[in-house]
Amino acid sequence: MYYPEELIEEVRQRNDIVDVISGYVRLQKKGSNYMCCCPFHGEKTPSFSVNRARQIYKCFGCGEGGNVVTFVMKYENCSFPEALKILADRAGVELPQAEYSEEARRKESRRQKLLQINKEAATFYYYQLRTQKGERAKEYLDKRRLSEETRRKFGLGFAPVKGGELLSYLHQKGFNDELISAAGLAKIDEKRGTVTQFWNRVMFPIQDINGRVIGFGGRIMGDGDSGPKYLNSPETEIFDKSRNLYGMNYARSARTGNIILCEGYMDVISMHQAGFTQAAASLGTAFTPGQAGVIKKYTKDVLLAYDSDGAGVKAALRAIGILRAAGMSGKIINMSPYKDPDEFIKNLGQEAFQERIDNAENSFMFEIRMLERDFDMSDPEEKTSFHNQIARKLCEFSEDIERENYIEAVADKYHIGFENLRKLVVNMAAKSGGYAVPIERPRSGIQSRNKNTSEENSKKLQRLLLTWISEYPQLYPKIKSYITTEDFTQELYAKVAARMFDDIEKGCFNPAVIINMFDDENEQSEAASLFTTQLPELESEQEKEKAFKDILLKVKQNSFDYYSARSNVDIAALNKVIAGRKELEELSKTHISLK
Ligand code: CTP
Ligand code: MN
Repeated sequence: MYYPEELIEEVRQRNDIVDVISGYVRLQKKGSNYMCCCPFHGEKTPSFSVNRARQIYKCFGCGEGGNVVTFVMKYENCSFPEALKILADRAGVELPQAEYSEEARRKESRRQKLLQINKEAATFYYYQLRTQKGERAKEYLDKRRLSEETRRKFGLGFAPVKGGELLSYLHQKGFNDELISAAGLAKIDEKRGTVTQFWNRVMFPIQDINGRVIGFGGRIMGDGDSGPKYLNSPETEIFDKSRNLYGMNYARSARTGNIILCEGYMDVISMHQAGFTQAAASLGTAFTPGQAGVIKKYTKDVLLAYDSDGAGVKAALRAIGILRAAGMSGKIINMSPYKDPDEFIKNLGQEAFQERIDNAENSFMFEIRMLERDFDMSDPEEKTSFHNQIARKLCEFSEDIERENYIEAVADKYHIGFENLRKLVVNMAAKSGGYAVPIERPRSGIQSRNKNTSEENSKKLQRLLLTWISEYPQLYPKIKSYITTEDFTQELYAKVAARMFDDIEKGCFNPAVIINMFDDENEQSEAASLFTTQLPELESEQEKEKAFKDILLKVKQNSFDYYSARSNVDIAALNKVIAGRKELEELSKTHISLK
């Protein structure tokens, strides 16, 4: 749904950020800000600050920040249009209705029917568990030590031996066999008629992120029972296994700042029962990039609680790769000597599990440790190839500092000389085209530059420059003859700069307005980060002026380089280069005061 900018802005203006956030958490006035403990990560002392004048919020603990719409998106775990709707309703602003095509409307109505059938089936199974017929299932759940509260929370049920009972229940509710089969609850067989998917199993309804039942998992109750241990609904129009996670409807609001990813329904349930409500599981298939995307909306920190056997380790290694590709960080919870979280918690309890969470292993170190098992360290040749493999993996880090830190950690743990390992990585990078390592070890904290990161660096500088100007808008008139929006070679920053410069000129600059220019969540948070990044705490005015000018000069130089590289193909770029050279020269001689 696309809304005009004026409307978005009206909704934002009619929702004062302090009022809205106060509806969610208790704010306390401190100076010109309002503070509280951050609702987005666990903390004991308040570092979450809301600023009424600027209409933005920022957590100095976790870095989360934005405007009133961002806050609602984040807190309610919803999309931009959904957040806008909440705020529009709150302020009594009317939003135009979405217009659906005939086709879309038909599809939506069918989806609704399939959801209804699943809900009815879940109700049916839930009820069966509580009848005489469900006695064995009840005993089974008792044996697995699930409390009544847990059974209710997860809507556990029982599919009776006679499938016909579900069918007549659903017929009675007005659903025909075609729909029942489309919902994955039965198959229409030419010879045998309609046959239900589940019978004589304990039933686990699978809910989507909004708590709607989209499918089921069913477990046999004893070794003597027929069929596979778990049987799941097939994929249907409403059940996409690659984009849903079991328990995610609860885990998303756990507010622990992380998600525990595991393999089994029972693992999720056991963890929730023990208070780890951030647990979720993939749906009887391997973890997918789509599922990583779902989790990433809530957190980037994922703890893997996979089975400790060979298959579990393999699955964990794959999940690590998927998480890394999605820009998320993974840690591994050590389950030994038990097979899975369910067994661990049953045997050692909640506190021991918490301890394992606290000591979860960094995913890279885990990968190396698993790699080590393939080599015989007493054999010099194998040892060498182990070291080479390590070096190859280390080449994959694009950030110098990060790579250096890992080289150090690995060298330390595996008793390889730091310099030797480093040389190995440099050689490997030279050969395989990975990220090159600077020959000199950079002094701690100072990032050395190389070709691969020059674009990232340039991006960082552009961002920093915008942060400075937003913090000191009075600087803009002084530098406007030197800097234009074209100097921001990153598209998002160029957009922000154009609006920001314009608004400063008009005397109506407000960061919250600028964040609203974007309706993509990632772009929004990137724009928000411009206004919530803390500038270095420099003591004197002089130091600040110097820092600012340094950044300005560098941005200008980068822009000059950028257009130079294009100047033989692009005439506009050439003009830009000629002008840029003059501006650079002037700028380097000019003093820019902060006042
Ligand atoms: N699974 C499946 N089909 C099977 C076996 C397993 O779909 N035949 C899926 C289920 O989602 C299950 C998960 O894989 O929850 C993990 O399976 P497994 O480790 O074998 O079982 P546990 O989770 O330990 O289940 P339980 O504790 O009930 O034995
Ligand atoms: Mn288990």
